[in-house]
Amino acid sequence: MKHETKHAYVFPDPAAMVTVSDGAGGANIITLAWVGMASSDPRSITIAIRPTRHSHGLLVAAGEFCLNIPGEELVRETDWCGVHSGRDFDKWTETGLTPEPSVHIAAPRITQCRYALECTVTETVHIGVHDLFVARVEGAYADPAILNDRGHVDYTLLRPMAYMPDQYWSLGERIYGYGDSKKDPAE
Ligand SMILES: Cc1cc2nc3c(=O)[nH]c(=O)nc-3n(C[C@H](O)[C@H](O)[C@H](O)COP(=O)(O)O)c2cc1C
Repeated sequence: MKHETKHAYVFPDPAAMVTVSDGAGGANIITLAWVGMASSDPRSITIAIRPTRHSHGLLVAAGEFCLNIPGEELVRETDWCGVHSGRDFDKWTETGLTPEPSVHIAAPRITQCRYALECTVTETVHIGVHDLFVARVEGAYADPAILNDRGHVDYTLLRPMAYMPDQYWSLGERIYGYGDSKKDPAE
């Protein structure tokens, strides 16, 4: 029998860093875990951000952002951008992360993150103390060094992190493939 718990989350989530233009030629970085796929066509994702974050106002003004997926070697930088505000710090200078130009949007990608989605906001849903931004993926970009011969991301090379309140985890081994159950002799 289960007991009711206050630990009410969906987990694991990705640990991601979102970049948003400041409208003056610069950009801020915010760490987000409440990130998800929303549709495959048009390819869309969601991010949930509290209006109190500095990045929230920037995002409302810009209407676009870049979702950067760090590898586990960037765990300290990822955390740093999630416990300091762009109101008080230039997170690029403080972390050593560097911007590289995006193709579809003004917000730069983070060079050190080897996978990035350039997105434009299509809908905003106000939900309690968070706003949920639905966004269309305008382009997906990966360092060729993390792609396999089919052009898919090799997760063992990217080494994305899982976030579970309030800890960062590295991922273990691949244990199964999509549809492998159809190949089970039991079926
Ligand atoms: C691992 C992690 C995940 C986070 N996820 C979210 C999130 O999904 N939504 C959100 O509003 N804040 C989230 N935060 C908090 C913001 O990153 C944090 O408040 C940050 O300092 C805001 O930066 P800004 O004021 O420069 O926008 C998260 C922080 C960490 C460390």
